[in-house]
Amino acid sequence: MTVRHFLADDDLSPAEQAEVLALAARLKQDRFAEKPLAGPRTVALLFDKPSTRTRVSFSVGVADLGGVPLVVDAAGSQLGRGEPVADTARVLERQVAAIVWRTFSQDSLAEMAANSRVPVVNSLTDLYHPCQILADLQTVAEHKGTLAGLTLAYVGDGANNMAHSYALGGATAGMHVRIGTPASDLPDPGVVARARAVAATTGGSVTVTSNAAEAVAGADVVATDTWVSMGQEGQEDERFRPFSLTSALLARAAPGAVVLHCLPAYRGKEIDADVIDGPQSVVWDEAENRLHAQKALLVWLLEKSR
Ligand code: CP
Ligand code: NVA
Repeated sequence: MTVRHFLADDDLSPAEQAEVLALAARLKQDRFAEKPLAGPRTVALLFDKPSTRTRVSFSVGVADLGGVPLVVDAAGSQLGRGEPVADTARVLERQVAAIVWRTFSQDSLAEMAANSRVPVVNSLTDLYHPCQILADLQTVAEHKGTLAGLTLAYVGDGANNMAHSYALGGATAGMHVRIGTPASDLPDPGVVARARAVAATTGGSVTVTSNAAEAVAGADVVATDTWVSMGQEGQEDERFRPFSLTSALLARAAPGAVVLHCLPAYRGKEIDADVIDGPQSVVWDEAENRLHAQKALLVWLLEKSR
């Protein structure tokens, strides 16, 4: 038996990502079309960090698929008291159909996957947020009709999980990804190299610049994220001010560009209220698509892991 995990955006090939996104679109049209978790089977949803959207969309999604979501918070689990990740994996994999984990360390997530015969899904680590990018790609496809060849500009913290996942996931979709970020907060060079290698096969590209206007110029999609990610609370964030998504910066994008933000948003910081609440914002579609994209991902992983 083979098991497929989703630990980073490039765990799906370009063709596989397209399959998942096509299924996500179908499940949005016919929400209860797939019941791979009928039985019902259980999916463990582990949270070492706070969450609103991920907790709700995975819980609802597992229920839609005929299964039972089991939410386990770090504070209420032995994992949170230092039980080894591998032991936790060995216990869970005998009982649940899949393990979805939001945590800090990508290495810990990889250790969970290495010890699990059921799919393990990254629902955010310090390094990546790949489920979010699937929802973002679904949203862009809905509004723009295509993905390959579009330019997606991300402005803000270039060293965080969203920047890394936009680079990898966007390149997988054949997009031109531009990351605008201060020189002090560049994305991980290894991630950029991986994203560029994928882009070379899809016709996309990955550019990093410390000039916000240059990043956004003519872009079809403009995205940003909080300047202070979970785990970084209390850190200085005003160095990101030149990368704030204001209406003046958005005016440099292509006419009709759409605005993404994974949420939660901090108005007046990384994005202005008139942008996130304005006509070019598609953030509520983006938040809804977490449900559809993750359901498609679970269906696909379970099918491939038989
Ligand atoms: N975008 C996102 O992952 O939101 P939550 O932190 O609320 O899950
Ligand atoms: N970069 C943010 C994303 C939140 C969904 C964080 O990690 O807190």
